[in-house]
Amino acid sequence: MPHLLIDGKVSARVSDLLDRMSLDQKIGQMTQTERLSITSAEVKQFHIGSVLSGGGSCPGDNHPSDWVAMCDAYWAASMEEDADHLAIPIIYGLDAIHGNANVLGATVFPHNIGLGACNDGDLLQRIAQVSSREILATGADWTFAPTLAVAEDIRWGRSYESYSADPSIVASYADRFVSGLQNNYGDDAVVACLKHWVGDGGTTHGIDQGETTADLAQLQITHVLPYIPAIEAGALTVMVSFSSWNGDKCHGHEFLISDLLKEQLGFAGFVISDWDGIDYLADDYRDAIRLAVNAGVDMFMVSETWKPFLGGLRTLVNLGEVSLSRIDDAVRRILSVKVAFGLFDKPRPAERRWSNDTSFGCAAHREVAREAVRKSLVLLKNEENALPLRRSSRILVAGKNVDNCGHQCGGFTVAWQGMSGNDFVEGGTSVYAALADAGDSVELSVDGSLADENKHDIAVVVIGERPYAEGMGDIRANDDVLVEAGSQIKGKMKVLSAYGRSLKLHELHPEDLQTIASISEKNIPVVVVLISGRPLVVNQELRLADAFVAAWLPGSEGAGVADVLFGDYDFHGRLSFAWPKNECVGVDFKGDEDILYPIGYGLNYAV
Ligand code: BGC
Repeated sequence: MPHLLIDGKVSARVSDLLDRMSLDQKIGQMTQTERLSITSAEVKQFHIGSVLSGGGSCPGDNHPSDWVAMCDAYWAASMEEDADHLAIPIIYGLDAIHGNANVLGATVFPHNIGLGACNDGDLLQRIAQVSSREILATGADWTFAPTLAVAEDIRWGRSYESYSADPSIVASYADRFVSGLQNNYGDDAVVACLKHWVGDGGTTHGIDQGETTADLAQLQITHVLPYIPAIEAGALTVMVSFSSWNGDKCHGHEFLISDLLKEQLGFAGFVISDWDGIDYLADDYRDAIRLAVNAGVDMFMVSETWKPFLGGLRTLVNLGEVSLSRIDDAVRRILSVKVAFGLFDKPRPAERRWSNDTSFGCAAHREVAREAVRKSLVLLKNEENALPLRRSSRILVAGKNVDNCGHQCGGFTVAWQGMSGNDFVEGGTSVYAALADAGDSVELSVDGSLADENKHDIAVVVIGERPYAEGMGDIRANDDVLVEAGSQIKGKMKVLSAYGRSLKLHELHPEDLQTIASISEKNIPVVVVLISGRPLVVNQELRLADAFVAAWLPGSEGAGVADVLFGDYDFHGRLSFAWPKNECVGVDFKGDEDILYPIGYGLNYAV
């Protein structure tokens, strides 16, 4: 139980506020909307409790000072007190899920799947601390992280947000990340948000926002498990999952939200809905609001339609379909978080200790990210001592991801779906730039056409996926799986177009195999580095490779890859997901014969 939330002083302050609030002020507190949909004046006029930036939604030129100015204006409006308005600071939220990567010049850490391979809780806590400072540098208070999904089917487009398919690995990280972010609610802390409650990684066929079919015991040992240490560590907020459990949407699930999370697990913070997540509960918006509030959602992430939301909730209370005690409970939880976290005692964002701090994107922060990259790499194959590279070797570097910081970072970087190229990852280092810096003779040829047996001793080929986020990263063999999910889910489903139809890399990206083949045909040993948000079926690429490294989505610090390829550091990473031999994954998984490398696999230089 987060002790600060039940502290007597906190509850006295919250009670005092609650006693003085009108219904409109309470409903406003329960509302969060997107920055593009609301002005500062409206924040005051409608008593709005929170504003967020959706993925890629950035003010001005997207540098920390632009963010601080924006947060400052919202805060100032929320703190004006007069006869119609109480001074209650807004809480500003964003998706800093691998560093504050929406912002130009941020330190971008490996996505969670890579951190899962590091098996290093201390490192994770340090990453959270750095992330926290880079969030505070922008004047924001709250990150929608960590994702505690246990991704059971790597066809899910959000697999990279999951530390592991093994719940115990996710659980072992959960408290460390929360503690690193919230840091005893000190002046360098931000509010954490556990997501997505619950079973987001268990959907059939890995369909984003799909259906998780499991009995309660299975749900608990797999998907609930990681939340327990995170709640014990004092996590202040939880976000609900778009997915459904045994057909019923989590957003309207009273048992999951009120009974299991709040009562049984003792979660005393507040629960927020996901982006317009209640819209899929019912055709009628007021019905949707009623179902979600009564299920126990406290704050509502409403991207644009916040006025209909305010009106709808007010009408429901007036009609007696939502009780005042439910409203008071929601507002008490929201205010308790704001008070306990010290938001009422902080100066305006422009005057806070870490706002615009020069440590944003600094070398010391990047060093933590570089360490994470080094530790996340998993060596799957190394024949004839292809690795480590010798500095004196004449090295050809190739592959479409070799000089592309955007692809290294993946989704949720500057834009929701991520970026391509090096320009937007300010201060980042591509794998090519890092290898060129470390080696004596490094030649770039993205498509490998310059490969020449007489000129090159070895080639490093960096291949893999391009960035994606959420359902846009799903792999769906055909549309039947959507029809199946649709028939199981009560309510509506949001469907985004998928990344591809197969987990086989040579089908998704035939150009990668061509590049490898064209170089190995010239009798040049090939080291393959795979940049991807999940394991893929790479049997053909592996066969042609002398060495093969899974690098996940390493983020801005490509130098971490060079550190290990040149042997300055040994490999450390171990698979936190099984590596597939074929497309039999998730519910289609038949047995160990479908696995190429099990969880825990990873080679080293030292034997
Ligand atoms: C995602 C959440 C995210 C939210 C706010 C949603 O689409 O599912 O994980 O926190 O957007 O950007």
